[in-house]
Amino acid sequence: MNPLSGKHIVLGLSGGIACYKAAELARLLVKAGATVQAVMTEAAGQFITAVTLQALTGRAVVASQWDLREPNAMAHINLSREADAILIAPCSADFIARLAQGRSDELLSLLCVARPIERVPLLLAPAMNREMWAHPATQRNLMQVAADGAVSLGVGCGEQACGETGDGRMLEPAEIIEELEAFFTPKRLAGERVLITAGPTFEAIDPVRGITNHSSGKMGFAIARAAREAGAQVTLIAGPVHLPTPRGVARVDVHSARNMFEAVEQHAPTATVFIATAAVADWRPAAVALHKIKKDGSGAVPQLSFVENPDILAHVAASPRARHGQLYCVGFAAESEDLLANASAKRKRKGVPLLVGNIGPATFGQDDNALLLVDETGAQELPRASKRELGRALVQQMAERMRGRQ
Ligand code: C5P
Repeated sequence: MNPLSGKHIVLGLSGGIACYKAAELARLLVKAGATVQAVMTEAAGQFITAVTLQALTGRAVVASQWDLREPNAMAHINLSREADAILIAPCSADFIARLAQGRSDELLSLLCVARPIERVPLLLAPAMNREMWAHPATQRNLMQVAADGAVSLGVGCGEQACGETGDGRMLEPAEIIEELEAFFTPKRLAGERVLITAGPTFEAIDPVRGITNHSSGKMGFAIARAAREAGAQVTLIAGPVHLPTPRGVARVDVHSARNMFEAVEQHAPTATVFIATAAVADWRPAAVALHKIKKDGSGAVPQLSFVENPDILAHVAASPRARHGQLYCVGFAAESEDLLANASAKRKRKGVPLLVGNIGPATFGQDDNALLLVDETGAQELPRASKRELGRALVQQMAERMRGRQ
């Protein structure tokens, strides 16, 4: 289930051109299963109308502490008491300054000050021009606001509406959702350092050709995201895929199985969990031609010979740290039939405590999957669901098994 499902979010908009992105954010929050109560400052009303937010959230927008629709005339108390979190997006430089001072002369700042501080987190998605963001007053105010218990989700970098380029853009709505989902996820992997391989490998034949496979990397990326949400420090070693890096995840891009092996060797000594989802090529051409192999018109075909690639998972699983329980190894098996028998045999062959089986042709490139978890006690099915949900479920299962081993 999405960590935002059933959460009640007060979405506060302060004045800034990024207000137009708040409409998309409200939409994504609702899609994730949250209820959204929009609250706008007067300045936000210069950039977006209450009609837009009301239509997207299905709730009347509140913009004034003098709003007499509240029977007790205490909008700031009512709104802040029912919230699971208050998210200010966009959060302007002026609004950060107001928070730093504990001002309460308009509804949005008032309800931030009035919130039960232990129970209702205050999350900020700042948005402003790069000079305003870099100004010592803004940074000083932000430090004060953080010391007072608010959480800044950070800013993006790039082209700004004013035509300048730099830090200070509001995070994209999807990035804010990613941060929020992480915020609401129990930290089951706190303190763990998780190393994940994902995607296919590419084994060159010559400078323009190579051998690869249909792995999209989506499952591994979803697990990386879920592990980070659960509080782990995550390194993702990715073969050639076109997927965005999950927020907060360190990514290392590789091409061949040997590149992947070297990257894993470099990071495994400090990892506490290793999850091998990559579809690593079993063989590579014995030699890579220096120049493109040409068709000469005679009908002769090139003769390729192969050598075996290192088995990354088996190698890591055989390391002393893995054998002494300091590195928990998880393998994947993409099969085309008889999942249980194949996955059980592979678990033993690879020497890993947990092996996750899936039917390869049914999942390659798809956004959903079904998993079969095989460990020493037996097998457990995770029924068909989105890879995002399965990533979360797998992280939960792993955390339980790892706890059981301590
Ligand atoms: O041997 P097979 O490819 O069927 O095993 C699949 C599991 O082993 C996956 O977890 C995959 O990431 C890993 N593997 C590996 N290095 C290889 C081959 C597979 O890490 N050379």
